Amino acid sequence: MTNGDEMAFEMALGMRAEAVEALLRQLLDGRVLSGEIARPDRLMAAIRHGVLNGGKRLRPFLVMESAALFSADGEAALRVAAALECVHCYSLIHDDLPAMDDDDLRRGLPTVHKAFDEATAILAGDALLTLAFDIIADEATALPAERRAALVLALARAAGTGGMVGGQMFDLAAERDQPDEAGIIRLQAMKTGALIRFACEAGAIIAGAAPDDRERLAEFGSAIGLAFQLADDLLDLTADAKQMGKATGKDEAAGKATLVALHGANWARGQLHGLVDLAHTLLEPYDDRAVLLKEAAKFVATRNN
Ligand code: IPE
Ligand code: IPE
Ligand code: MG
Ligand code: MG
Ligand code: MG
Repeated sequence: MTNGDEMAFEMALGMRAEAVEALLRQLLDGRVLSGEIARPDRLMAAIRHGVLNGGKRLRPFLVMESAALFSADGEAALRVAAALECVHCYSLIHDDLPAMDDDDLRRGLPTVHKAFDEATAILAGDALLTLAFDIIADEATALPAERRAALVLALARAAGTGGMVGGQMFDLAAERDQPDEAGIIRLQAMKTGALIRFACEAGAIIAGAAPDDRERLAEFGSAIGLAFQLADDLLDLTADAKQMGKATGKDEAAGKATLVALHGANWARGQLHGLVDLAHTLLEPYDDRAVLLKEAAKFVATRNN
């Protein structure tokens, strides 16, 4: 990989982030849609606070880039990317609540319950989760109906009880129960990995790619999803709040079982290398078309915020 590939990745990440933000801004403009009655101003303001606030927009990038790998419709991919970012932002709003991680800072700004209030933050999260499925199911996501249904199903499975939400449940228990290595890997594959896996798999679904391709992209997503949380746990230990835009040092203070707590930072860095290698191997069949996704895998492992 050349330095040029890394620069191309950074530019593409920025461009994709701008595109998804523009669409999110439009989707959150407060207009009442057919079938709706009214959109409360305060709820819309809280939702916008939790969504239009920076963020790396990595998951949207993965949706759009994996879709591009199979020459899928870019507009449809953009809408699915926005839907996934809504689920991600909801997960962050709820993760930061006092009953969960009790955080005051997110993306360098006050968390939604700090800027508004707890009840409004809970509702903003609820609304974003629902909106995600609205965006995909809407005919404006111009895909054959069965692909829209497949996306709804895959996102529901990734976000729900057996995915992100279930992972958050295991994560809460991890401060008390001290799961073993397999238990930690499972909880991380769920709380963080599932949405990232969906992001990569979604491109293949949008394109109507072959089942083998869909499975390969999902496996790629699993590998970088694991790397993503490993890097997050490493950064929680080594970075500061200014760099991260969120509080750090929280896992150690809470006595949370993470792979970094179990095996140490150097082991984690070695694992990250291995996961990037695995991710690259999975993309071999796509040659140069997968250059930016390969860079994304490196970015996930070596990011500094
Ligand atoms: C943070 O995700 C939450 C985790 C799953 C560890 P990101 O690091 O992608 O957060 P943003 O979207 O860039 O703020
Ligand atoms: C959060 O994991 C994962 C989800 C939001 C589902 P963390 O609790 O480690 O994420 P940060 O560190 O608050 O971003
Ligand atoms: Mg948490
Ligand atoms: Mg948290
Ligand atoms: Mg964390």
